[in-house]
Amino acid sequence: MTTNYIYVFDAYGTLFDVHSAVGRFQADIGAHAVAMSDMWRIKQLEYTWTRTLMGEYRDFRVLTAEALDYAAGRFGGISAALREKLLSAYERLDAYPDAVPALRSLKERGARTAILSNGTPQMLRTAVESAGFSDVIDHVLSVDAAQKYKTAQETYALVEQALHTSRNAISFQSSNRWDIAGATKFGFRTVWINRAGHADEYLDLPPHAVVKSLDNLLTL
Ligand code: LAC
Repeated sequence: MTTNYIYVFDAYGTLFDVHSAVGRFQADIGAHAVAMSDMWRIKQLEYTWTRTLMGEYRDFRVLTAEALDYAAGRFGGISAALREKLLSAYERLDAYPDAVPALRSLKERGARTAILSNGTPQMLRTAVESAGFSDVIDHVLSVDAAQKYKTAQETYALVEQALHTSRNAISFQSSNRWDIAGATKFGFRTVWINRAGHADEYLDLPPHAVVKSLDNLLTL
């Protein structure tokens, strides 16, 4: 099977498991580790939206650290050493097991692949290298170039600009339903990777397809 689409992936939550950082230090953090990790993620995203809405940009590494500080504080605090370990783990998150095989299979069938993420260029470079994506991702695009976060439409436009293509040539994959809403509005074909089986949202901005994993993207 061949494809005319360029496959563009969200990074955090879609290719990389954002909860794998706390997961590595679960024993040090204790019973509230899962709740703290959830709050870390929620606050990190909230900060992207509030900064963009107020017309300000602060990079994703800084927002990630600020969100960790808030989340850790809500659960009684963590040591400076553990804070450093968690932030360093966030730079080298585990990839979901389906990610490299899915990307390899797309590459073998001649597709171009890319990441479009809120992460800084440096964060994404490190993440791509440490998770073994270097051979299967052709382009790594950061919203840093737009100085805005998703779902600002300018962030999706970076794909057209960087890859010299038009939006109808893009298949955009994300596990974040809000990201799918933004990308659908922009005009990408969108595929929601609904790993957790969450209820649908943003019903006026539906994905082209909903799947449980990154397997078999070419059949959609
Ligand atoms: C990203 C955020 C959505 O990678 O996790 O852009």
